[in-house]
Amino acid sequence: MEHNRVPMVAGNWKMNGDQDLVNQFSKELKTQALSCAVVICPPSVYLPLFSDHDFSLGAQNVSHLQNGAHTGELSVSMLKEVGADYVIVGHSERRESQQESSKLVAQKAKNAVEGGLTPIVCVGEPLNIREQETVEPYIAEQLKALTELLSVDAMKQCVIAYEPIWAIGTGKTATPQQAQEVHAFIRRTLNAHAEELGEGIRLLYGGSVKADNAKQLFSQPDVDGGLIGGASLKVEDFIAICRAAN
Ligand code: 13P
Repeated sequence: MEHNRVPMVAGNWKMNGDQDLVNQFSKELKTQALSCAVVICPPSVYLPLFSDHDFSLGAQNVSHLQNGAHTGELSVSMLKEVGADYVIVGHSERRESQQESSKLVAQKAKNAVEGGLTPIVCVGEPLNIREQETVEPYIAEQLKALTELLSVDAMKQCVIAYEPIWAIGTGKTATPQQAQEVHAFIRRTLNAHAEELGEGIRLLYGGSVKADNAKQLFSQPDVDGGLIGGASLKVEDFIAICRAAN
């Protein structure tokens, strides 16, 4: 089936980086002719410090609420105002440490779309689920929360990142085949929800993507790029990964 999914590489700095790294990325990426879409997701306080950059910016989280007495939270409109076009929602680190449910993640994704941010919705299984060979029902549940709350048109605005938890920050990446299998499953599931819905949605792989394994992962038919953690903190590694997606 024909599709027009331009590959994307997104860097998730997590709670790392500083003004110096902001400057490095703004400067170095400009000299590269990259044909994939590039998104940098620094800690939100750094978003307004990127000046004169030629990639998109994203936040790593957003409140599911609009505004009001919610100390420490940031809204969709605030993130947009300081330059974000994307927001990561449902990262496994937040699902675990902040007890974010799939329902809450879906609410965040919905608000993001309604407010004009593209959500990068993370899904992915822990090791015991992989060992029990119940990855598909586990991912299906995470997707169901999303498709139950978002309209088909809103779903079309989402990017989905498959990040197996056992591969995050461990140096233990999924094999290209393991990634492809789950990505194909996600696309099939979305297609079953609404005709051809899955065909237009970008599916990123995340979990120990490095300059030396990116090409193999990204060359899988249903892998449209990556969500990069550790290797997004070194500009030359990140550029090499972007090249692998070209
Ligand atoms: P690593 O690339 O460090 O494994 O992190 C992946 C990730 O969690 C990106 O969101």
